[in-house]
Amino acid sequence: MGRLEGKVAIVTGAASTMGIGFATAHLFAREGARVLLTDIKGDVVAMRAQSLRDAGFAASATAHDVTLQYDWGRVRDHVLTEHGRIDILVNNAGIALPGGIGEATLDDWNRHLAVNLTSAFLGCQMAVRQMRAQGGGGAIVNISSSAGLSAFANLAAYCASKGGVRLLTKAAALDVAAEGIRINSVHPGHLDTDMIAGARAVAPAMVAAMEANVPMTFLGVPDDAAAMILFLASDEARYITGAEFVVDGGLTAK
Ligand SMILES: NC(=O)c1ccc[n+]([C@@H]2O[C@H](COP(=O)([O-])OP(=O)(O)OC[C@H]3O[C@@H](n4cnc5c(N)ncnc54)[C@H](O)[C@@H]3O)[C@@H](O)[C@H]2O)c1
Repeated sequence: MGRLEGKVAIVTGAASTMGIGFATAHLFAREGARVLLTDIKGDVVAMRAQSLRDAGFAASATAHDVTLQYDWGRVRDHVLTEHGRIDILVNNAGIALPGGIGEATLDDWNRHLAVNLTSAFLGCQMAVRQMRAQGGGGAIVNISSSAGLSAFANLAAYCASKGGVRLLTKAAALDVAAEGIRINSVHPGHLDTDMIAGARAVAPAMVAAMEANVPMTFLGVPDDAAAMILFLASDEARYITGAEFVVDGGLTAK
């Protein structure tokens, strides 16, 4: 028996092979969930779902802009048509653009809030309404960041948006705790994703400095975050809600 046997899950931002979303969708599928992968890159996320089906898992995909309320309605209809219910939502899609408070543009600010924070509001609301209609129960995991717990220079809008995800998670969790719907946040530190691979090629000293700043002295990988997300999505976390979980090699312990 898998840890998510019989569950239906949605994972947003799942197009990147080296990203947290796809790692999570893959792990969920291995643990028996039927998974809908979504991303603004519709063609790419369709290929990711195909790769899971080729491996014998139950997965499908749809294009999805997490900033648009009507798109969330479309995603709900898609998953209900395919599977008839929603048990798990992972709000993972996100962006991170550098910008200090003196330099960031209003457009950058608004984009961070829309993609990283408004998306979590819209996703939680859609999932909560559907889980209520099913009679209650369910798990939502919002992906924040170590930058949602402590500040990083040159990332003002990103930090603000991820800090917002942390408290949205707690407030929403209180609203639905008595209905058996659990909402938690995960806060990854520096993970070795596509972005870091690119930086390693052009600025190896910068990446080495990032690694040296991590108490465990190495960068994590998407599967490190996925393992935590799996735990929170599963019934093993049945008494856990409104809580924050760091996966950061000790970065925020300092
Ligand atoms: N990688 C890290 O070190 C790290 C650290 C802390 C937090 N995070 C968070 O983890 C999450 C996943 O990050 P990742 O590193 O896997 O990055 P990633 O870029 O691989 O994944 C993000 C995905 O979101 C998608 N996306 C962007 N805008 C969208 C929109 N409007 N609608 C739908 N999809 C959209 C992108 O196409 C991409 O596939 C993000 O929320 C990020 O902030 C990552």
